[in-house]
Amino acid sequence: MKNRIFNIIILLYFMVFILLLSGLKQYFFYQQAPDQPINFSHQKHVSELGLKCDFCHKYAEKSMAATVPPADVCMSCHKAVAKDKPEIQKLTKYWSDKNPIPWTQIHKVKDHVYFTHKRHIRAGLDCVNCHGEVQKMEKIRRVSSLRMGWCVDCHKSRSAPLDCYTCHK
Ligand code: HEC
Ligand code: HEC
Ligand code: HEC
Ligand code: HEC
Ligand code: HEC
Repeated sequence: MKNRIFNIIILLYFMVFILLLSGLKQYFFYQQAPDQPINFSHQKHVSELGLKCDFCHKYAEKSMAATVPPADVCMSCHKAVAKDKPEIQKLTKYWSDKNPIPWTQIHKVKDHVYFTHKRHIRAGLDCVNCHGEVQKMEKIRRVSSLRMGWCVDCHKSRSAPLDCYTCHK
């Protein structure tokens, strides 16, 4: 009898532990790097080939979203470059079928939060300030929590607006 109660307590203990872990995982392990439909490497295209961020993310300084480039941008090179490689054949198929590449979006704020790239880029911030050293990443991962404290800490340190209405319209 005593043993059984003991076992149940151990079981409950582990159940609570697992629940806690899955909650904590959402909260702390935001550095996700999901598999993408094509193995695109920033390290290769930025550090090795010398392409600038705005060659592909050209809306970052002009609008709210930085946007990921359409396959046309890639195909300006890959019609010729490495076209026998399997990853490039996948890319070519999306392009010739006129299907957008289903990239998984990694950085996303909740719908009740207002964020715009344009204002931040115009204020002289660099991509690195918020996205880390993307040019060294084989596979993109998040380095910032994107939580309210993250936004507010930087706003405080750079005397940017702090009233609620700034980020919650
Ligand atoms: C300015 C030209 C250029 C553009 C634009 C470009 N690439 Fe590349 N890409 C290259 C070169 C050069 C390589 C290296 C090829 C090699 O190693 O044989 C490469 C390599 C790759 C590889 C690795 C191929 C392999 O398996 O070795 C992938 C995947 C890739 N690019 C995808 C893309 C995607 C997706 C885009 C658009 C978002 C893109 N590239 C845009 C020039 C470009
Ligand atoms: C050759 C085109 C190309 C260049 C140059 C490029 N990117 Fe990208 N970027 C992409 C593509 C395609 C994706 C989507 C696939 C992925 O996540 O790897 C992407 C994804 C991203 C993401 C993640 C978006 C999300 O889903 O949240 C960030 C952040 C990013 N790029 C930043 C940068 C920065 C900073 C630079 C310059 C240092 C840069 N990129 C240069 C093509 C490019
Ligand atoms: C002040 C912080 C900050 C800076 C600076 C910044 N970003 Fe972002 N980025 C974010 C946040 C926050 C998100 C999520 C936005 C959303 O959910 O609408 C994001 C999302 C993205 C995305 C995916 C969604 C989209 O908007 O298309 C890409 C790509 C991206 N950033 C690229 C860049 C590039 C390239 C630069 C530099 C030119 C840059 N970012 C500078 C904070 C920043
Ligand atoms: C690395 C620093 C940094 C981070 C992180 C950051 N911001 Fe900012 N933000 C600034 C600066 C600096 C300005 C001031 C821009 C200006 O003066 O035009 C600004 C301005 C803004 C504005 C425009 C303010 C206005 O006058 O209307 C909004 C909206 C905003 N930020 C939202 C956010 C949100 C939401 C986040 C988090 C998801 C965030 N910011 C993260 C530095 C940052
Ligand atoms: C610089 C941008 C910024 C400012 C200023 C700001 N918030 Fe937020 N707020 C955020 C972001 C980003 C989130 C989303 C947090 C997340 O996804 O975990 C958020 C989330 C929230 C939430 C929901 C809780 C949650 O975790 O989703 C509440 C409530 C909130 N904010 C209230 C406020 C109030 C009240 C103020 C004014 C005192 C304020 N915020 C000012 C960026 C901001």
